[in-house]
Amino acid sequence: MSNRVDPGVSTVQNSGLATPATDEFLAELTSALPARIRHRIAAFDHVDSTNRIAREFAQIPSGETNIVLADLQSAGRGRLGRGWYSERGQSLAASFIVRLRGGLGSGGMLPVAAAVATAEAVESAIHPASVGIKWPNDLIAGGGKVSGILIEAVGAGVFVVGIGINVGRMLFPDDIAARAVSVSAVAGRDVSRMRVLASLIRHVDARCADLSTGDGRKALLDAYRSRLVNVGREVALKRTADSTVIRGRMLGIQDDGALLLETDAGRETFYAGDLTSDTHT
Ligand code: BTN
Repeated sequence: MSNRVDPGVSTVQNSGLATPATDEFLAELTSALPARIRHRIAAFDHVDSTNRIAREFAQIPSGETNIVLADLQSAGRGRLGRGWYSERGQSLAASFIVRLRGGLGSGGMLPVAAAVATAEAVESAIHPASVGIKWPNDLIAGGGKVSGILIEAVGAGVFVVGIGINVGRMLFPDDIAARAVSVSAVAGRDVSRMRVLASLIRHVDARCADLSTGDGRKALLDAYRSRLVNVGREVALKRTADSTVIRGRMLGIQDDGALLLETDAGRETFYAGDLTSDTHT
């Protein structure tokens, strides 16, 4: 499926909308990433969605490729059937293939691990500013959404974790301009996309490893809760299953990552949906 163009960074051809990475993009990647992880990466110039391509790689049981990257993504997928806007050279679009073992096969805590890892990577670039997590895994910084995460189940215990980060100074389309923000704008300087990527890979590896121990899962929940926005506020949750809107006061998350709301019916838990409040869109 892949043809090597560099020791460790591969491209895929004849796979839907996916054009091979340019030499320039490959050079950027190889200079930013340690040699020991390059064999895990499939890099493209232009794709429709890195998640779609990662799903193809995930079908190869013993495949070494577990990170799919693109310089430009033209039909990025967002949560709840929405799209995701990317800009060439400015956006980071990365999809990680994650294989969970044993009792973790359902992936319930994976959104927590992915959100914490991405928050840590973004924070390494915007320090001393910090990142807030809007349940389940939107990342908020400088008053706007700086990153989104789409997790898709591929098979038993196999998931694609797609992470989009607005890194460079981007020109967002009108319909999202008021809500979206970039890492560079929050940092107040141009941030390197490759530096954020290198940090992201380190943090995703570490936080996914945390999923397999009790202490690791506790550390993940602490790291997630310390960044969780809207706790104590009145929120509205649009449920994924039937689009009904539930209003209530946000209490936090349970230890399995579910959202806890105090509603007119009492204390209720939710596993999926779109959360809004007056302060964080
Ligand atoms: C959201 O906030 O709605 C989730 C956005 C997820 C976007 C990323 S970009 C990399 C990966 N490939 C996709 O098609 N989507 C995810």
